[in-house]
Amino acid sequence: MMRKSLPVFVFAIILVNAVSNVQASTVYETLESLKYMEYLNIVKAAGLDSKFNDSAVTWTVFAANNTGVNATLAPKHLVVSNITSNSTESKDIIEYTLYNHTLLSDDIKTGTTILTAVNGMNLTVVKNTTGIFVNGIMVVTPNITADKSVIYEMDSLLIPPDIKL
Ligand SMILES: *[C@@H]1O[C@H](CO)[C@@H](O)[C@H](O)[C@H]1NC(C)=O
Ligand SMILES: *[C@@H]1O[C@H](CO)[C@@H](O)[C@H](O)[C@H]1NC(C)=O
Ligand SMILES: *[C@@H]1O[C@H](CO)[C@@H](O)[C@H](O)[C@H]1NC(C)=O
Ligand SMILES: *[C@@H]1O[C@H](CO)[C@@H](O)[C@H](O)[C@H]1NC(C)=O
Ligand SMILES: *[C@@H]1O[C@H](CO)[C@@H](O)[C@H](O)[C@H]1NC(C)=O
Ligand SMILES: *[C@@H]1O[C@H](CO)[C@@H](O)[C@H](O)[C@H]1NC(C)=O
Ligand SMILES: *[C@@H]1O[C@H](CO)[C@@H](O)[C@H](O)[C@H]1NC(C)=O
Ligand SMILES: *[C@@H]1O[C@H](CO)[C@@H](O)[C@H](O)[C@H]1NC(C)=O
Ligand SMILES: *[C@@H]1O[C@H](CO)[C@@H](O)[C@H](O)[C@H]1NC(C)=O
Repeated sequence: MMRKSLPVFVFAIILVNAVSNVQASTVYETLESLKYMEYLNIVKAAGLDSKFNDSAVTWTVFAANNTGVNATLAPKHLVVSNITSNSTESKDIIEYTLYNHTLLSDDIKTGTTILTAVNGMNLTVVKNTTGIFVNGIMVVTPNITADKSVIYEMDSLLIPPDIKL
């Protein structure tokens, strides 16, 4: 029995490693595979694409999906290119969607939590029986892991208080 099961066990380890190697991808690659192209266009305009593709970062990323980015801009009669044409503004916006520690949804306490984003401004996170909200914006999907980071799909783009769209 032992002699027969050992190769099976070794094969299983190889298989598990192969699968986890395939799944281990950077924040950039994960957002790309989720097709968050509008958010990624702002990341690129901010010059943050190589940082997003760094497997060492330990971030919580509040990334708006494509509908969310457009829906944030449309009422102001803007499109993504109005943001991406300004690299300073793009950087401020993207850094406001980043918290420099990895938070899975279970790490967020029920009630209100203030997180200081990478741009130095605060985000107000509310967790209640309805779900998780950041500055009142709903989290669509929590816990999307990417290397050492975690992505939250948001249904709008977080705009820092110092930016007037
Ligand atoms: C991200 O990094 C991987 C290697 O780790 C590389 O293959 C890929 O081209 C990079 N993508 C971008 C957009 O830089
Ligand atoms: C978002 O707007 C861009 C134009 O800025 C458009 O190309 C894209 O198809 C829109 N995406 C969605 C999901 O509405
Ligand atoms: C936004 O972009 C559109 C299309 O490029 C342009 O026509 C418009 O003037 C821009 N709006 C602002 C406020 O820059
Ligand atoms: C770019 O955005 C910054 C921050 O919102 C603003 O101060 C600056 O005037 C903008 N630059 C241009 C050329 O619109
Ligand atoms: C972000 O977090 C990492 C790991 O905790 C730390 O090494 C790094 O200095 C932090 N960066 C900033 C800008 O706080
Ligand atoms: C988030 O991930 C944590 C840890 O894997 C898990 O315990 C929790 O149930 C997940 N929450 C959601 C809402 O998926
Ligand atoms: C951010 O929140 C902390 C408390 O969590 C507070 O001490 C700090 O003054 C706030 N910063 C701003 C810019 O509101
Ligand atoms: C949860 O918080 C959100 C955002 O503050 C709010 O809109 C919602 O009504 C709250 N849900 C409950 C059950 O209190
Ligand atoms: C973005 O999230 C909203 C809210 O859940 C959803 O209705 C919409 O289909 C999502 N859009 C994309 C392109 O995933």
